Amino acid sequence: MRILTGLQPSGKLHVGNYFGAMEPAVRLQDEGEAFYFIANYHAMTTVKSPGELRAYTRELAVDFLASGLDPGRSVFFLQSAVPEVNELAWILSTVCPVSQLEKAHSYKDKVAHGFSPSHGLFAYPVLMAADILLYDSNLVPVGKDQKQHLEITRDLAGKINEAFGEGTLVVPEPMIREATAVVPGLDGLKMSKSYGNTLPLFATPDEAKKLIMKKLVTDATPLEAPKPRENSTLLALYRLLAGEAEVAAMEADFDRGGIGYGEFKKRLLEAYLERFQAISARRAEILADSGYIDEVLARGAEKARAAAAVVLDRVRTAVGLA
Ligand code: ADP
Ligand code: TRP
Repeated sequence: MRILTGLQPSGKLHVGNYFGAMEPAVRLQDEGEAFYFIANYHAMTTVKSPGELRAYTRELAVDFLASGLDPGRSVFFLQSAVPEVNELAWILSTVCPVSQLEKAHSYKDKVAHGFSPSHGLFAYPVLMAADILLYDSNLVPVGKDQKQHLEITRDLAGKINEAFGEGTLVVPEPMIREATAVVPGLDGLKMSKSYGNTLPLFATPDEAKKLIMKKLVTDATPLEAPKPRENSTLLALYRLLAGEAEVAAMEADFDRGGIGYGEFKKRLLEAYLERFQAISARRAEILADSGYIDEVLARGAEKARAAAAVVLDRVRTAVGLA
């Protein structure tokens, strides 16, 4: 079984990205042959500075490796190292109705947030479909926000198969992570870099302390009163970061009352620091060895191109290009 997912290098990673995307991807390495890539073509739709694009790409590679992506088992590469993906995107675009792209939530959201409605942003789902279909991917783990893009992918694969022969493309299954579907940000809304409400994945202890103690929202329940569990952002984050017994203890303390949010925030900070300690250390090691990242990505690119060539040959023949 081939498992594939991509992450955009569009900013510093946060805890929402980690639990929503990276950690599940790392766990899935046990289930099949994983193809994980950095979607740098996609990031160009929003990141306009070459320096930033390069830096985010590098950082994402380091962070993904530090989080447990094992390049011995999985194929890890840059999207742009396999430019053939653009050819498949073109072929897919010839069967993709404009009306389908006009309905894409993510396009409408981005335009509403002030991004210029470029053709690249509009055609984003077609390139994403090509990413997936180019590698005969069977399973695509993504966050809830990508559900519609997966539907478009399946639809385009179906259209190609119908027009040019069954078996031309493998129709992938999405794997939508419901449990950690939405990690709340410090203000209680969805954690997202575009909302400025993130807890970064690799904050220094001081930065993390400031963010948690000063910026994390809590309600006005007095110290002595029981704290409502429902809608508690603090508790939701703690459930992700702390162990079972610690979570049970915090829940009991919430119910009992007599402990203020300041104390609960300290526990959250400790859990955060402890949870990411090992990853931080591994990250420092990787950063110190810059040749390592290049070598991993070069090896990944080679394997990805070989896999892509098989599919692209099949598609070129099916559609009459070869
Ligand atoms: P952002 O919203 O910060 O711009 P991206 O859209 O770049 O993040 O998301 C990258 C990946 O992280 C996607 O797979 C997305 O589903 C996941 N992700 C982002 N924010 C969250 C969140 N708050 N909770 C769960 N997953 C998230
Ligand atoms: N659009 C995805 C995101 O923003 C990133 C992505 C690009 C992707 N190509 C992909 C995810 C292919 C899965 C499969 O999170």
